[in-house]
Amino acid sequence: MTTTDIISETTGVQASAPNREGYCEFTLGKFHFRRDEYFAYVTWPTGDHTMSIDDFLRAMQRDVAWDFFYGTVNFDAVVGTINHYGTVDLFAGRFNEVYKTAERDYLQNFPTPEIRETFRSMLDDWTIAGFDPFASPAETDKPFGVKAGSNTDAVTRRRVAAARMVGVAGDEQVRTDDTHPVNRMFADVAQDEPVIEAEPGFEDRLAAFNLFAYLSRSNVTWNPSVVSVCKDSLYCPTTEEYILPIIHGNDRVEWFVQLSDEIQWVVEDRDTGVLRSKVTMRAGDVAAMPGDIRHQGYSPKRSMLLVWENASAALPEMIRTGNAPVYPVEF
Ligand code: PHB
Ligand code: FE
Repeated sequence: MTTTDIISETTGVQASAPNREGYCEFTLGKFHFRRDEYFAYVTWPTGDHTMSIDDFLRAMQRDVAWDFFYGTVNFDAVVGTINHYGTVDLFAGRFNEVYKTAERDYLQNFPTPEIRETFRSMLDDWTIAGFDPFASPAETDKPFGVKAGSNTDAVTRRRVAAARMVGVAGDEQVRTDDTHPVNRMFADVAQDEPVIEAEPGFEDRLAAFNLFAYLSRSNVTWNPSVVSVCKDSLYCPTTEEYILPIIHGNDRVEWFVQLSDEIQWVVEDRDTGVLRSKVTMRAGDVAAMPGDIRHQGYSPKRSMLLVWENASAALPEMIRTGNAPVYPVEF
């Protein structure tokens, strides 16, 4: 903490006055965060790390919007968070054999509200006008340069999360031209909606929607959103373009159904980062990602991916104690 740091009374966020480039610096526990025109700098008691501000903000945007997601969100091979659903670990070098061997890795646990508020403030302060961390690189301005405006609407956009299913009365609704024009890469996707022929008396108990049309209108990338819920079973489709901005370390099995085009997945051991496989998924392919891996996807063109999550809160502990396998089926 420097003498110029201000601690917000409402959020507890510890931030400096604007630095030479106009950006606040943030302190969270023993971690310190600073940005300049091109880079984010993270320091901790035993080391320091530099990332492109582009990659850093895209990763930070996901961690914030997903409220630390399932398991581990690696910003890159060094820095990231582990969600313990109530508390969150912030780490450096924790899943990097070189840092661990050199004893330069570091980890600190925070109550979720504390890290959440700091990350939210940092994301908002460090995102300048015109840059949208959720957009594909082809559809946004650049994040570089000195502080110039902000893009609070983009970095705080509401996450789609159906309570039952998109299209059900009172739930998330289908997208229209007014709010969600069809994406440039999905101009050929049919926009017709299913016809529902309900028996008399059942009219308000049936719903259906065209998922391909719905996804063709997504204005974000690498952002699974819940479109249907059946107990702990969540359908979380997403549209992908360029590179998944995080390397996700699973704490449970995830199913992927490639709905269109192609994604190449690099799958590594979750804890060491050693390469386990490369998986190329084309339209119609289905894969189960094990509960002990980390993965990052590459999508050469905008594509549609269905991520099927089991949101059961019991799973991480069941896997940790060997009461559930890290793979989903035995053939
Ligand atoms: C994942 O980690 O499984 C994941 C995250 C974001 C996506 C797709 C998959 O857009
Ligand atoms: Fe994942």
